[in-house]
Amino acid sequence: MSKNFDVVVIGGGPGGYIAAIRAAQLGFNTACIDEWKNAAGGPAPGGTCTNVGCIPSKALLQSSEHFEHAAKHFGDHGISLDNLKMDVAKMVGRKDTVVKQNNDGILYLFKKNKVTFFHGRGSFGKAVEGGYEISVAGKTAETLTAKHVILATGSNARALPGAPFDEEKILSNDGALRIGAVPQKLGIIGAGVIGLEMGSVWRRLGADVTILEGLPTFLGAADEQIAKEAHKAFTKQGLKIEMGVNISEVKAEGEGVAIAYADAKGAAKSLVVDKLIVSIGRVPNTIGLNPEAVGLQLDERGAIVVDAECKTNLPGVWAVGDVVRGPMLAHKAEEEGVAVAERIAGQHGHVNFDTIPWVIYTSPEIAWVGQTEQALKAAGRAYKAGTFPFLANGRARALGDTTGMVKFLADATSDEILGVHIVGPMASELISEAVVAMEFKASAEDIARICHAHPSLSEATKEAALAVDKRTLNF
Ligand code: FAD
Ligand code: NAI
Repeated sequence: MSKNFDVVVIGGGPGGYIAAIRAAQLGFNTACIDEWKNAAGGPAPGGTCTNVGCIPSKALLQSSEHFEHAAKHFGDHGISLDNLKMDVAKMVGRKDTVVKQNNDGILYLFKKNKVTFFHGRGSFGKAVEGGYEISVAGKTAETLTAKHVILATGSNARALPGAPFDEEKILSNDGALRIGAVPQKLGIIGAGVIGLEMGSVWRRLGADVTILEGLPTFLGAADEQIAKEAHKAFTKQGLKIEMGVNISEVKAEGEGVAIAYADAKGAAKSLVVDKLIVSIGRVPNTIGLNPEAVGLQLDERGAIVVDAECKTNLPGVWAVGDVVRGPMLAHKAEEEGVAVAERIAGQHGHVNFDTIPWVIYTSPEIAWVGQTEQALKAAGRAYKAGTFPFLANGRARALGDTTGMVKFLADATSDEILGVHIVGPMASELISEAVVAMEFKASAEDIARICHAHPSLSEATKEAALAVDKRTLNF
């Protein structure tokens, strides 16, 4: 006997679980299927983000930042510590607890919102009268039918050809979050978001970290001025970053991993490390979904093809998050999930791709929204720029963290904010003000005229907005 639902969501990551909750709030009889298992084989909804992504990485970043503060900065405050030690097993255990709290939180939210949860793999059976048949393969097998199906099956780490992940020595994000002891030498391929965040964690704990990046430009998606400032800070901290390399071979041998590559000038080089993290991007995941059974269209990258509203080529089938085009970010997946549930209910879902913030949780943090200066130049757009350094911000001085700046880019004529870029303390929190401002099409002057609390880091945002009109007050 099949169980009938209005909406079935396949995938319980940020795209899927949020879509299911919103659909249930809108009155639909909703099910969510997710196959992620915890160490005991039980359900662990939350997807990549909760289990091996956003949440555990931020837990390790926090622990390692505390350690670095204690080791290097407490002395400035008159605090001395003898015999400072890092218990890596405890740090990883704390991270696992944080993950479990989030898994349990999602199961609670499903109950609260009356979403029926199925633990197992969901796949298309066939199209049926007025909808689709979906099979669930878990501890028991179930057959569901639904008028609307939302696909939120996420993404997987991309491996280097010829160097599959063994999660012991050649690590994806999964293994990188489970390293049990500080490696003496850590190699990372890819100076993107994961490379920089995970590289920071293990460098802070004492590893000698080398990052090998294929492109000649560091953080090409970020504003050039901000990327330069960040590169300077990371290099000063001891991260070794080699740009423009060409990896020729990666071999796990003996106790370590040997990497052969050509440097930016084409010279043959080699690096031997204890562990290697490969963070060269992610690929959309439709493994096990059986898209052929219903003729679901995928593109050449394996992503589910959707239009601007997340509709697939099949009536009543939608797809959101990492498995479709667009940035692979949890908050983008969530916004799409909410919008799709609302569109199913006949409402106007809202996702503004122009105001999706990016954050890299290193120290200094990097955050931005909107266009970069190099993109505006390339587009021939007339703009004004204003920057304000944290060095001139009282709160940053009191915190003892004055690296970086806030940068505003505004239209030369209308003064509308076109982009805000931050490198420095709490950039992840500061960027929200810029997102709100851009969503409401604010001008730089609007921010400059708003009262900001003193002393606060947010005053640097106000001052950068003032700088657009060349009238900073504290610099
Ligand atoms: P996922 O989170 O991947 O969830 C998909 C779920 O579907 C999984 O649970 C999977 O098991 C399940 N599934 C797949 N196929 C099936 C099936 N057939 N049946 C049943 N279940 C299935 N983003 C940020 O915004 N901020 C960050 O700080 C951040 N940090 C990150 C750190 C790391 C190390 C990594 C790897 C990623 C990070 N991301 C971050 C990206 C973020 O994790 C993803 O963008 C986000 O998880 C995508 O959500 P999703 O719902 O599309 O997919
Ligand atoms: P990424 O796209 O951020 O970076 C990958 C890097 O690897 C790029 O700089 C690329 O040029 C480089 N690269 C690709 N192939 C290479 C090769 N063969 N040799 C050397 N370098 C190569 O991807 P990453 O770091 O794997 O992260 C995946 C995604 O996960 C991110 O794009 C982001 O969407 C998400 N994420 C988000 C975070 C956040 O929001 N704070 C944190 C971590 C991940």
